[in-house]
Amino acid sequence: MKLQGKVAIVTGGSRGIGFAIVESFVKEGAKVSICGSCLETAQKAVDNILLNYPNADVMPVGVNVRDTEEVKKMVEQVVEKWGCIDILVNNAGIVATKALIEMTDEDFTSIMDVNVTGVFKCTREVVKIMKARGGSIINTSSLVGTYGGKMQSAYGTSKFAVNGFTKSCAKELGMYNIRVNAVAPGVVETDMVAENVSEQMLEGLKQMTPLGKMAQPEELAGVYVYLASDDASFTTGAIFQVDGGLVL
Ligand SMILES: NC(=O)c1ccc[n+]([C@@H]2O[C@H](COP(=O)([O-])OP(=O)(O)OC[C@H]3O[C@@H](n4cnc5c(N)ncnc54)[C@H](OP(=O)(O)O)[C@@H]3O)[C@@H](O)[C@H]2O)c1
Repeated sequence: MKLQGKVAIVTGGSRGIGFAIVESFVKEGAKVSICGSCLETAQKAVDNILLNYPNADVMPVGVNVRDTEEVKKMVEQVVEKWGCIDILVNNAGIVATKALIEMTDEDFTSIMDVNVTGVFKCTREVVKIMKARGGSIINTSSLVGTYGGKMQSAYGTSKFAVNGFTKSCAKELGMYNIRVNAVAPGVVETDMVAENVSEQMLEGLKQMTPLGKMAQPEELAGVYVYLASDDASFTTGAIFQVDGGLVL
């Protein structure tokens, strides 16, 4: 098992891509703090994991990543239970598909708060612990974070920032043996896509994708396992595009 005994935090672990990451980490022997935006969604995910993996060592944590005190409490809970943190996956994210001139201040600010400031806050608090013995931080970016996206001015800006944050942290934290990488998915079948992408647009995207479909969340998870594991011991500052060949 590639992550035997490692302690991981997965934000946005309650559903979608994050839940698939949690499941793969559990299969590889990790102890996982499954984070949702509130305790109810985190607990539901823990219950689902325990149904299939009754021996899994998992803990539900409700944390709004915008809130500094809640983020600090998340880190405290994990350290209290398991004594260290080896892996942080900054995966929680939100989107708004809107024309620029329709985008309100609140739309823009809330996307930046969750997708950028949330990633910063979780990373800062975890690194205070992780720097003692090294670790791996993996940020969920997006294809839109490299190429931009129509009706995605806030989301695209936030994911470009995630890439910049990833590379800057990789440079700064290498001296502590902390590796920092990002995964940039294409289109993945989750609630986020169901709620924000029209059937017509999805069909077009599938046709433009050499693999001819959108991804299931589980098809992303292996990249996170790799980046979290010692197999990636010399990999840092990289943005892994996982998009079925949509942009080549
Ligand atoms: N799906 C795609 O096609 C796609 C493509 C590229 C990148 N991504 C990125 O992948 C990540 C996961 O996306 P997804 O498609 O799996 O999304 P999703 O199904 O909508 O799930 C979003 C997750 O983020 C959590 N979350 C939302 N706001 C939060 C907050 N303020 N504090 C803490 N947690 C919060 C949600 O928790 P609750 O369950 O409690 O609401 C949930 O676990 C995001 O960063 C997204 O930008 C997705």
